[in-house]
Amino acid sequence: MTKPLEGIKIIDFTHVQAGPACTQLLAWFGADVIKVERPGSGDVTRNQLRDIPDADALYFTMLNSNKKSLTLDTKKAEGKEVLEKLIRESDVLVENFGPGALDRMGFSWERLNELNPKMIVASVKGFSDGHHYDDLKVYENVAQCAGGAASTTGFWDGPPTISAAALGDSNTGMHLAIGILTALLGRDKTGKGQKVAVSMQDSVLNLCRVKLRDQQRLERVGYLEEYPQYPHGEFSDVVPRGGNAGGGGQPGWVLKCKGWETDPNAYIYFTIQGHAWEPICKALGKPEWINDPAYNTAEARQPHIFEIFKTIEAWLADKTKFEAVDILRRFDIPCAPVLTMKELANDPSLRASGTIVEVPHKKRGSYLTVGSPIKFSDMKPQVTASPLLGEHTDEVLAGLGYSQQEIFNLREVKAV
Ligand code: COA
Repeated sequence: MTKPLEGIKIIDFTHVQAGPACTQLLAWFGADVIKVERPGSGDVTRNQLRDIPDADALYFTMLNSNKKSLTLDTKKAEGKEVLEKLIRESDVLVENFGPGALDRMGFSWERLNELNPKMIVASVKGFSDGHHYDDLKVYENVAQCAGGAASTTGFWDGPPTISAAALGDSNTGMHLAIGILTALLGRDKTGKGQKVAVSMQDSVLNLCRVKLRDQQRLERVGYLEEYPQYPHGEFSDVVPRGGNAGGGGQPGWVLKCKGWETDPNAYIYFTIQGHAWEPICKALGKPEWINDPAYNTAEARQPHIFEIFKTIEAWLADKTKFEAVDILRRFDIPCAPVLTMKELANDPSLRASGTIVEVPHKKRGSYLTVGSPIKFSDMKPQVTASPLLGEHTDEVLAGLGYSQQEIFNLREVKAV
């Protein structure tokens, strides 16, 4: 099966999560991704949170599948020379070093463009170029705070809250992947490479755009009718945290099911979609609510929405989250069980679709990872193991024309 990105060569100068998530995606789709790592240590995540002594940590293996690993000390003259050769024949260079690191290494955008005017240079930084914080190093949670997610997540009587979803890291990597593919299409038209930059703050904010919508609505009318604060609580001049509220015309909440007293995940998310009001009432055994003016519009329900949720919870009390969803799905009600990582790991549908995959690894044995969430009719991306540190150094150097003796010499000076 031909993969769409076959023939695209990518220098993967990324580490931790944001950059590696981007290049892993491109590798699944066929790009030849060569991860350049510091000799001896490599990507810091190889060693972080290890569960098996002396074997690459899952943090690394789950973000670096389908890649090659080339060890190269790019601060040494010999290493720079190898990197320059690689640059001359690559299509893309992706990096997510701290601000200025690539320039300090001697590979500014101008220099890269001079070495290979057709190459796309893609970067992740915490903040965009020229931003008053553009000198800051940034990790996931910092980005969630800077991008508006933390101030709008959690409960109104608690502190700003971080999401477990990697909104700052993997999300930024996905934005960068879109940027790279766009620049590759652009290059087909112009013959020129370009710089593609994505900031973690911008990527988080992009996912929080409905909260910027709410800020403007709040400033205009002074309240937000779909938030739990309405109509009984107070609004300030900033978008509040709304707990587990759903947005707009689809109020929803996380509701207790049978066993919640002992199982912290015995819950479903229940959405009251306007057009499903009648089926909801039928499912709950409350036909009298269907035409009751105190219940039959979203506006009428909102003042006593928590009383409605309590009624639904009473109905859920003798049903597990799975039993409840099996009933509610027959009434076309948007809902889902709150699934744990254990349940997801063992979900037969996710296994069948290739979203959860088991990957054999030379040192670890097999491990589970999340495969491509994007499905194609003509291609099923196959996930292969992440490389061992420097596993492909000889192969890549030989491909660049280095002889066995020259490779030996590079090892002698510890450049690879
Ligand atoms: N050979 C020689 N040196 C190498 C190298 C190699 N193969 N690969 C990296 N290095 C050097 C760099 O040149 C740099 O050195 P310098 O600071 O002396 O110029 C250093 O290693 C890497 O620095 P940095 O990227 O700042 O690492 P850090 O561990 O201090 O910071 C981050 C980590 C993630 C905070 C930082 O990289 C960052 O802010 N990145 C941008 C935002 C981002 O992607 N964050 C999310 C990560 S999930």
